[in-house]
Amino acid sequence: MSNTVIENEIIRLRNTTPQDIDRVLTIERDKENRRYVYNWSWERHLESLRSKEEEHFVVEDQKSGKIVGYIILSSIGSPHDVIEFDRITIDEKGKGYGRQCVQLIKKLCFENYGCHRLWLDVFDDNPKARALYESEGFVFEGTLRECKKYEDGYRSMHILSMLSHEYKKIK
Ligand SMILES: CC(C)(COP(=O)(O)OP(=O)(O)OC[C@H]1O[C@@H](n2cnc3c(N)ncnc32)[C@H](O)[C@@H]1OP(=O)(O)O)[C@@H](O)C(=O)NCCC(=O)NCCS
Repeated sequence: MSNTVIENEIIRLRNTTPQDIDRVLTIERDKENRRYVYNWSWERHLESLRSKEEEHFVVEDQKSGKIVGYIILSSIGSPHDVIEFDRITIDEKGKGYGRQCVQLIKKLCFENYGCHRLWLDVFDDNPKARALYESEGFVFEGTLRECKKYEDGYRSMHILSMLSHEYKKIK
């Protein structure tokens, strides 16, 4: 499949197509993932595919060609050169795909999209994801306390970011 946006030897990110949305939803709604990422409808994903302000990628393993996850970026084209690393969800965990994705997203945003500030939020009960981001150079900025209302109560989110000069120093 073409439409590759960025790749390395292990994975490639390509633009999600409407035919991929069912697979994306299966990953998003998996019990291991749904607590940690926003849950969208099929239509909202389609809207994202078509939006100029959002980038929606599937992550494919180079060898098998299988979709192993998906990624969403938002605020594309912001006048402030800010991009939100909105979502990453990996189906086959612990195989290094998540780290490969974070590295490719940093490269894409800072080297191709002229990003100055790349930021994300992560639920405070997701230390694994936070550790991955921090080990890739994201800086913890603070906590939005009890900012999201869920059936089981209010949940807090940590904010992390990386600036372009920080990326240049560590790349
Ligand atoms: C968070 C997530 C994207 C990481 O992707 P992944 O492919 O599993 O991560 P990787 O295999 O690249 O591992 C990255 C790091 O996580 C840690 N890690 C991996 N598996 C782990 C486990 N079972 N328990 C604790 N930490 C673990 C390791 O520190 C690893 O670092 P290393 O490369 O030094 O070993 C993935 O687990 C996921 O989709 N989780 C559910 C959705 C989610 O939380 N998304 C992020 C929302 S902000």
